[in-house]
Amino acid sequence: MQTKIKALLKEKNALLLAHNYQPPEIQEVADLCGDSLELSIRAADTDADVIVFCGVHFMAETASILSPDKTVLLPKADAGCPMADMVTPDALKSRMAELGEMPIVTYVNSSAAVKALSTICCTSANAIAVINSLGAAEALMTPDRNLARNTAAHTDTHIHSWDGYCPFHDALTAEQVQQIRSTHPDALFMAHPECRPEVVALADAVVSTSGMLRYAAESDATTFIVGTEVGLLHPLAKAAPGKTFLPASEAMFCPDMKKITLADIVFCLESMTGEVTVPEAIRIPALKAVKGMLELAR
Ligand code: 13P
Ligand code: SF4
Repeated sequence: MQTKIKALLKEKNALLLAHNYQPPEIQEVADLCGDSLELSIRAADTDADVIVFCGVHFMAETASILSPDKTVLLPKADAGCPMADMVTPDALKSRMAELGEMPIVTYVNSSAAVKALSTICCTSANAIAVINSLGAAEALMTPDRNLARNTAAHTDTHIHSWDGYCPFHDALTAEQVQQIRSTHPDALFMAHPECRPEVVALADAVVSTSGMLRYAAESDATTFIVGTEVGLLHPLAKAAPGKTFLPASEAMFCPDMKKITLADIVFCLESMTGEVTVPEAIRIPALKAVKGMLELAR
């Protein structure tokens, strides 16, 4: 199946992008695996005619916002992100009316329509830098309440948060982390910024998924407690061979990130189905918010 995918990618001049949480067999066949920021940067900068996005819907949508002339395929149409569904354009408009004029900083885990209402986007890798670049007295961060609270600790800007969350990161408790620490006192704890503030307070590193890969590879430590989705255990083992990675909780499993199979990739490339597009009236304002973030990353 992997050989077939490689041949189809060549035949269609297609690029296969995979998020770090994707199943190992998909990561193995991808042209690039990465965190949300790295995948957005790559989607914006490719000569390929087709982008096959192995991740969830908002990621394919972001690729289409950035590269409207490319065919962006999501091999499973219903691979979504529950957190992205926790904010709608209408609800955001009401909150904006309540709060008055201030920048809206939207996590990429959101729909194109919500991005279109936003001042700028951010990812887990750059939320603090994005907020501080605005120099604003106040800002609304949406949809992740945990990312908002964790960012608020690193800025003078007063952050208003939206009440969204990742069900799998938000479920991790400080007690669970302390429990593992008690049996592995030398282990370093890496937390994703989607975790609750009291969990993040226990962390040795608060980083994106790719940030965890770099941190584990560069650290002198040999054992790590991994405070993110368990799919990261595969690239961690490759990035830091011989080191030990303990999931902070086996329940940190995102079913949407495991929906795509190798057979789905073959089917979508053969039939060129599963295209994700964004209407121009939404794409243009959404592009402004995504581009603002990418320019900052550069
Ligand atoms: P990053 O890979 O950008 O850290 O994002 C994690 C995530 O939840 C993606 O859905
Ligand atoms: Fe969304 Fe959480 Fe799944 Fe990421 S891990 S796609 S934030 S539900």
